[in-house]
Amino acid sequence: MKTVGIGLLGAGIVGGSLIRRLVEEHSAIEAKTGLNLELRRVAVRDFAKERSIALDAAVLTIDPVDVVDDPNVGLVVEVMGGLEPAGELVLRALRAGKPVVTANKALLAARGPELIAAAEESGVPLLFEAAVGGGIPIIRPLSETLAGEQVQRVVGIVNGTTNFMLTRMSEDGASYRDALEEAQTLGYAEADPTADIGGGDAAAKAAILASLAFGMWAGIDNVYHQGIDSLTSADMKWAAELGYTIKLLAIAERLEGGVNVRVYPAMLPVAHPLAAIRGSTNAIFIEGPSIGELLFAGPGAGGEPTASAVLGDVIDAAREILAGAQVAPRIQLSSAELVPFEDVQTKWYVRLEVDDQPGVLAQVAGEFGRHGVSIKSVLQEGTGDDATLMIVTHRAAESQQRAARSSLEELDNVRSVASVVRVESAAP
Ligand code: NAP
Ligand code: HSE
Repeated sequence: MKTVGIGLLGAGIVGGSLIRRLVEEHSAIEAKTGLNLELRRVAVRDFAKERSIALDAAVLTIDPVDVVDDPNVGLVVEVMGGLEPAGELVLRALRAGKPVVTANKALLAARGPELIAAAEESGVPLLFEAAVGGGIPIIRPLSETLAGEQVQRVVGIVNGTTNFMLTRMSEDGASYRDALEEAQTLGYAEADPTADIGGGDAAAKAAILASLAFGMWAGIDNVYHQGIDSLTSADMKWAAELGYTIKLLAIAERLEGGVNVRVYPAMLPVAHPLAAIRGSTNAIFIEGPSIGELLFAGPGAGGEPTASAVLGDVIDAAREILAGAQVAPRIQLSSAELVPFEDVQTKWYVRLEVDDQPGVLAQVAGEFGRHGVSIKSVLQEGTGDDATLMIVTHRAAESQQRAARSSLEELDNVRSVASVVRVESAAP
């Protein structure tokens, strides 16, 4: 029998599901893989908390170092989340020669190169399939199957919470608050959902995807991100009227001069394949010259799907341990040539509240033109003193779009720039 002792850091939404699988499906896993995966230590913060699956008190500890240092633990699974103490614990395990499986995208985005280097130095695997796309296999395909592809572009819906919220708001008229509460109840949101709704979670995932796709480290600080917190129900309504749906997109692409990685809510034509991705489902498009287009889609958040990806990594790492060989890193990271977001060409939808007077539309068009932004379409609504203008522009550098916006805000007849949402209309 091939036995591997597992130490678990965290027994929350993901950890709880993993424990259930390891306990209830122990025999099935053994039959399928030949591995006896034994859960030996589990760190939690609160002993008294009620758990969905009962654990022997001797297994539980509130000191996570106990888990990492336990000589009976040969493989450490980090599902506690956050930067610390998770970061130091992962490093401690790797330096002790113990493989680590983690679902912690925030930690990987913040300290990826350091952790990967520590794993390489010890010759043990650091696996993180669950860190992006929940249950979708995406890390392994990108870093292994597509290792030789010159990936051009990765576009994804990579945050289940916000996609769930946007779906509930646009299809069922749910309020922002109710939709968020529902996402939290269903276990999609982070313990603190700020990073979900503010785009930080998707930015961390975009940074990880970019590093695997392009073999370079963009650094989370270089990933522009904007969340869904500034979207209004009027934006959702106008998007629908104009034939679009709004999605929070993570985009990593190779442009002339380097790579750009960014996250923002964008209007997508309803016929676009990503527009059909509903609820907590995630989807990731990969484009490359040889492969053409690949679409990976599936459950992007929640305990069970995420634990499925973690378990796959545990089995993979356990096999590596038993093989006894030094593990070569799955990715090499070079430093990246980056294109600043200000230089990226984007299309904008701009909603303006204006005085309904002769010459106002001409003034507005003039300001776009003065900054080199060409207008694609204009829709006007309202009669009387005021009107709402919905303008969709052609592509222009983000810096030009921003300059046009600032000029519009200065016009006397423009009461407000009520909203700006970028438009992604090209095929992904
Ligand atoms: P969670 O429900 O908040 O669980 C965190 C667990 O870690 C809890 O069991 C908690 O103990 C324990 N913990 C936290 N800090 C600790 C400390 N200092 N010492 C000991 N134990 C500690 O989080 P989760 O949703 O399972 O997420 C875990 C990780 O997976 C995060 O990195 C998250 O980003 C990632 N992830 C989550 C999902 C998802 O859908 N939820 C999907 C993909 C990736 P108590 O139980 O006692 O509070
Ligand atoms: N909070 C994350 C999400 C969990 O909503 O996508 C999956 O990483």
